[in-house]
Amino acid sequence: MTVAVLVEGLTVEFGRFRALNDLSLAIDYGEVRGVVGPNGAGKTTLLDVISGVSRAKAGRVLFDETMELTRASEAEIARSGVRRKFQKPSVFEALTVRDNVAIGLGAKPGADGPEKVARMLETVGLTSEADRLAGELAHGQKQWLEIAMVVVAEPKVLMLDEPVAGLTDEETERTAALVKALRSPGRAIIVVEHDMDFVERISDRVTVLHEGRTLFEGSMARARADAAVVDVYLGR
Ligand SMILES: Nc1ncnc2c1ncn2[C@@H]1O[C@H](COP(=O)(O)OP(=O)(O)OP(=O)(O)O)[C@@H](O)[C@H]1O
Ligand SMILES: [Mg+2]
Repeated sequence: MTVAVLVEGLTVEFGRFRALNDLSLAIDYGEVRGVVGPNGAGKTTLLDVISGVSRAKAGRVLFDETMELTRASEAEIARSGVRRKFQKPSVFEALTVRDNVAIGLGAKPGADGPEKVARMLETVGLTSEADRLAGELAHGQKQWLEIAMVVVAEPKVLMLDEPVAGLTDEETERTAALVKALRSPGRAIIVVEHDMDFVERISDRVTVLHEGRTLFEGSMARARADAAVVDVYLGR
């Protein structure tokens, strides 16, 4: 089976600070991987390197076992189907919900563009809000809109950075159902979150990062029982 994202010996430095320290991990197609760990562990930095926003000091990231993301530009990476929702929601507030999703299709949306947008709005439950301005949406709806903007492009690797931060329990519930609906054999989904119950519900496996390294990898149930994980993260 092809590995969707292969991280090998990845080191990222900001000045003299090591945000990622010789990190290696493999994420398969069809998988939902939770990436968790304390503040500053390097979770967002990992997504930054995969999406070409930050550069590696050493090591590499392979997409689809062939494309070296650590040598590609942000635009090339996005074009090849590796997409990401940022930690801070960033929708175009002055545009309609529908037009925001259409932007996710890029400059050449194609004849079936409107239909893809309509289907995407249905999937994220925003059909009834399609003609409203994105700026009028509730915080949870903005998160779903942003996921729609990324997913409408049918990414092979989908990265979500803190998709339920600030959401109500009910909104979190809906987001978990949404992530489950977005899984597919041809897609790897990477979710960074601090809400452990949410992570447990959506993930096949979790990677616990600590100080730029993998502290634990396996099921969330095992992570909860791991003394080191409890010590540096879950027990806090
Ligand atoms: N562009 C940057 N310049 C300097 N330092 C940075 C930069 N980006 C991240 N860092 C530092 O690298 C470390 C890891 O940051 P990162 O954002 O990856 O953490 P995180 O695991 O996502 O944390 P959180 O759970 O708080 O979002 C932090 O100490 C952060 O201050
Ligand atoms: Mg972060």
